Amino acid sequence: MTDRPVSPDSVALAAQASSWRSAYVHVPFCARRCPYCDFAVVAAGEPGAEETGRYVDALIGEIGLESGPFPIEAVNFGGGTPTRLDPHDLERILIALRDRFGLASDAEVSIEANPEDWSPRYAAALREAGFNRVSFGVQSFDPEVLAYLGRRHSPDQAERAVTVARSAGFDTINIDLIYGAPVETDPSWASTVDRALTLGPEHLSAYALTVEGGTELSRSVRDGAPAPDGDVQADRWESLAAAASSIGLVRYEISNWATPGHACRYNLSTWAMGEFVAFGTGAHDHRDGTRARNVRRLDAYVERVERGERPRSGSEHLDGFERKRERFMVGLRLAAGVEAGSVGTAFLESAEGRRLLDARVIESIDGRVRVGRPLLTDLVARSVLSVSEEDC
Ligand SMILES: C[S@@+](CC[C@H](N)C(=O)[O-])C[C@H]1O[C@@H](n2cnc3c(N)ncnc32)[C@H](O)[C@@H]1O
Ligand code: SF4
Repeated sequence: MTDRPVSPDSVALAAQASSWRSAYVHVPFCARRCPYCDFAVVAAGEPGAEETGRYVDALIGEIGLESGPFPIEAVNFGGGTPTRLDPHDLERILIALRDRFGLASDAEVSIEANPEDWSPRYAAALREAGFNRVSFGVQSFDPEVLAYLGRRHSPDQAERAVTVARSAGFDTINIDLIYGAPVETDPSWASTVDRALTLGPEHLSAYALTVEGGTELSRSVRDGAPAPDGDVQADRWESLAAAASSIGLVRYEISNWATPGHACRYNLSTWAMGEFVAFGTGAHDHRDGTRARNVRRLDAYVERVERGERPRSGSEHLDGFERKRERFMVGLRLAAGVEAGSVGTAFLESAEGRRLLDARVIESIDGRVRVGRPLLTDLVARSVLSVSEEDC
């Protein structure tokens, strides 16, 4: 891979994003637990799965416990599966956010959707409620890969969902893909990429299948099932990157592409260390220099909010140096990279930094540093954590 120059537009966007404030709302309910997923979810049949109304009330209660105003540029409803909720409940939560914090008139209001939940009626109700961006968990257009991933939708359902969203007038449609499942082949990945790009999404996210501890996938790999192959995944990313750029999708982060004007504000603001509030089980936020996390268990979350308490499981205040280091670590993911500054300079001078630079895992261009390949992002982040204040 050759070093592409850092585009001035992407640098300007990243700088702007650091001043945006955003909000995240976690909806943990899922029809069933996908074997690879370690997010805070409650699958149908598990305790609390039917108590969606009580959870929505708790979310609204938690929003009321946070202080405002905190004018918001981007809202993201994620999960879990937010589209398990009735549009009226989603609208109630959105109104609570707007009343408490204030929402920019052109704010990005995004929701993650599973294709099988989507219908013209549902899409129209969400548009009416104020949502203008939808992110579909498509993952693949190969039925065999979808079955391996335990997904409930068919390739045709995913295609229809995108078409319906387009007709309903969503400004930005995102397609999420997962690459490198052991049952995926080169031709099946090529066909997935082709079908995804033919739909003309304004935004595309693609993640290497990761074996997360404690999941069904990790248990089967431990018992001898094949694990995803890192070299194959690197090739899949390269072929996607080439195909996406050939139709005008610009990569603005290691796993994210968008047409001009459609980069995800919520994602950008969190990667640029903007402040954000977050609500729901397992949600974590960043405000006034403090990062805080919520409890993951549904019953504990609801009970704490009903008692009028913030349902925190922990928090830490980041001092000046930690903020700088975190900013550098997260900013490395961006195509714009991040200014080296004192942390980056110390990192590039360290033995590990020099090794990563020589191996072209990271790139240093015009005083900015970035990760060049997706699979090693976590490794680089861990290396940055070894930089101490004395090194700078
Ligand atoms: C947690 S899901 C929530 C959205 C929605 N419920 C869905 O499944 O599409 C958000 C995205 O994370 C990605 N994801 C989750 N677990 C992953 C894993 N173990 N490896 C790679 N990608 C993963 C998938 O692309 C998924 O669309
Ligand atoms: S991948 Fe999505 S649908 Fe599957 S369990 Fe995780 S959050 Fe739920």
